[in-house]
Amino acid sequence: MGLDFPNPIGLAAGFDKDAVGFEALGAMGFGFVEVGTLTGQPQSGNPKPRLFRLPKDRALINRMGFNNHGSADAVARLKQPHETIVGVNIGKTKIVPEEEAISDYVASAKRVGPHADYVVVNVSSPNTPGLRNLQATEKLSPLLAAVREALNEVSPSRRVPLLVKIAPDLADEDVDAVADLATDLGLGGIIATNTTIRRDGLQSSPDEIEACGAGGLSGPPVHDRSLEVLKRLRARVGDELVLISVGGIETPEQARERLDAGATLVQIYTAFIYEGPLLPSRLAKGLAKR
Ligand code: FNR
Repeated sequence: MGLDFPNPIGLAAGFDKDAVGFEALGAMGFGFVEVGTLTGQPQSGNPKPRLFRLPKDRALINRMGFNNHGSADAVARLKQPHETIVGVNIGKTKIVPEEEAISDYVASAKRVGPHADYVVVNVSSPNTPGLRNLQATEKLSPLLAAVREALNEVSPSRRVPLLVKIAPDLADEDVDAVADLATDLGLGGIIATNTTIRRDGLQSSPDEIEACGAGGLSGPPVHDRSLEVLKRLRARVGDELVLISVGGIETPEQARERLDAGATLVQIYTAFIYEGPLLPSRLAKGLAKR
């Protein structure tokens, strides 16, 4: 992507939703921070409670629903000179109908593109009704092409890398289809994976799981599928595309495993919640030793 990362451990999207903390997070040791998901219009997200811990699984379930102040609001902060490498993740405003999704993404891309080290089209959150339908190639292809064109328009001198973020719940054929599309459209890369809507294989009791309700599950329960999707993607796309692997990474060994399996970079979120602010530098140092 033409970027020089201080280390390959990034903070995944959904923590610094409004791009207010990326410099502090970078100073904590993250090699890069992905802000957002930002939507075309501001929105408050789902009613609380909307974020739950399953401590026995070191997992989280969330149905935040893209609470954010909108992509226009974030620009002021993204514009400031900063040291941290910042990816900007964009998604669809809930009240915008699926047929108008492209213009919502394009509006955000035009605003944030000039100030982003890379841009991510997020089509994999389970918490915006219909969003994941956009992962189907017949919908994804025109969406990504339009965002690519918008980025070229607002940033003619620097080609802003464009990535797409996918769900772990895609069937293998659909993972392959996204990989082929990314190659065909000349995307910068793919981020895999978002949270899962599955609930199998958990240590928590059925009552504990039920009490959380709907949402995306993250942390160790998505580890295996996330690794599997990474391997599948790398086998499919060859050496060219950047693959950012995310889902269930907690230790330097697991980060090493992703890089060995073809990841260019990794990201964490849930482990940061359980372990706290020392985790990013611990992971980066542990990884450097390996
Ligand atoms: C997320 N995630 C997420 N992803 C995204 O693309 N946009 C978002 O707004 C959010 N929001 C969000 C909120 C919360 C509370 C969590 C726990 C997660 C998904 C996240 O970036 C990541 O893909 C998954 O959580 C899997 O990684 P971990 O958490 O297992 O390391």
